[in-house]
Amino acid sequence: MQVLLVGGGGREHALAWKLAQSKRLSKLYCAPGNAGTVDVAENVSIKAEDVPGIVKFARERKIDLAVVGPEDPLCMGLVDELTAAKIRAFGPCKAAARLEGDKAFAKEMMRHRSLPTAEARIFTKYRDAKAYVATRDAGVVVKAAGLAKGKGVIVCDDPPAALIALERVMVAKEFGDAGDTVIVEEKLTGPEVSVLAFVDGHNIYVMENAQDHKPIGEGDTGPNTGGMGAYSPTTLLDDKTLRQIEAEILVPIIDCLRTEGIAYKGVLYAGLMLTTGGPKVLEFNCRFGDPETQPLMMRLKTDLVDVFEAVIDEKLDGITLDWDQRASVCVVMASGGYPGDYQSGKPMTGLADANAMPDVVVFHAGSRMMGGQVVTAGGRVLGVTALGETFEAARNRCYEAVAKIHFEGAYYRRDIGAKALR
Ligand code: AMP
Ligand code: GLY
Repeated sequence: MQVLLVGGGGREHALAWKLAQSKRLSKLYCAPGNAGTVDVAENVSIKAEDVPGIVKFARERKIDLAVVGPEDPLCMGLVDELTAAKIRAFGPCKAAARLEGDKAFAKEMMRHRSLPTAEARIFTKYRDAKAYVATRDAGVVVKAAGLAKGKGVIVCDDPPAALIALERVMVAKEFGDAGDTVIVEEKLTGPEVSVLAFVDGHNIYVMENAQDHKPIGEGDTGPNTGGMGAYSPTTLLDDKTLRQIEAEILVPIIDCLRTEGIAYKGVLYAGLMLTTGGPKVLEFNCRFGDPETQPLMMRLKTDLVDVFEAVIDEKLDGITLDWDQRASVCVVMASGGYPGDYQSGKPMTGLADANAMPDVVVFHAGSRMMGGQVVTAGGRVLGVTALGETFEAARNRCYEAVAKIHFEGAYYRRDIGAKALR
């Protein structure tokens, strides 16, 4: 089977690594991929957002299965276009991907079914948003409604900070059009967990859980990033809470979309906060999490091609996901300055040494080849991931691998999973 994986980040390297292990695979292409995916796939230099380019390539090469990793092409309707061209594609259609691409739409869907989520108001006019914030006396969160690479959410401790955030999003347009509509919502507190599930339009199959680390700084300080590290499983979620999340959040949102005539097929990612009032939705994503996918793929034993096909064929009820019972930890190494400005093109050393460690995989995120050398090419550069018999063993092994890798300005959080140790 010839598979085309669309995307070029850490999530895609992890998916490519896992897909490459499938007995059913004859050829794996990655568009555009990165300097890590070349080890397991043939990179094709077509951008993930180049919808016509991807469709043309898939037709010409007679691709049997296309897998779309990132949210941008999903929200642009890549799966719809591939399907129209008679290419089997994994990922939600454009209408379903709106659950991530339009946070105002997602809020409305959640309201329809009274899903537990932060109280929110939606604004398209700066003046109205400003007036509303002025009436608040506690912390609020300002969110650009559109896609902003995981950075369009500003958590504010008080209304004055929220006013500054509003100005950044609605006046300075720091996130472009994504900030045309803004959500101002109550600030929730509690531990955060990511729950990812395969959905085939009807059936929902929840994966093992994982925890992300969004803020750039240790102790969860500083601005949000795409995610600085993750581990799986987390002890934060017990079975009862997980069942509650499935029954009160995942089932109703899929159901709500179905009554709107939208079949959700692909991965549904719920970003949740475990508040004293129960789990509440922070956001929905229409794809695998990055970096959650890295530890999850290290733990998944089931053939990923079988799973993707079961979703497309609406036969998820016939699938069982087997997981390695060991723990997995992923630490993201980023370019100095990220999530703000950073420099690229920095040569990396120690990758082979780290990769040679048992149960360690160095997933690339922002990397490329330059003159025969692997250089940095993005904010998040690598996702160093390790398995271990215990969480502590996985974590130690992961940091041992990280210590072998060097590039100018490399930054990583030293406290990934620290909460799990407590
Ligand atoms: P989102 O992209 O909506 O998940 O937001 C990114 C991050 O901002 C989340 O992972 C949380 O850490 C934080 N966040 C989002 N919404 C809230 C909220 N209502 N209260 C507190 N923190 C939030
Ligand atoms: N790790 C957060 C995300 O994928 O959006």
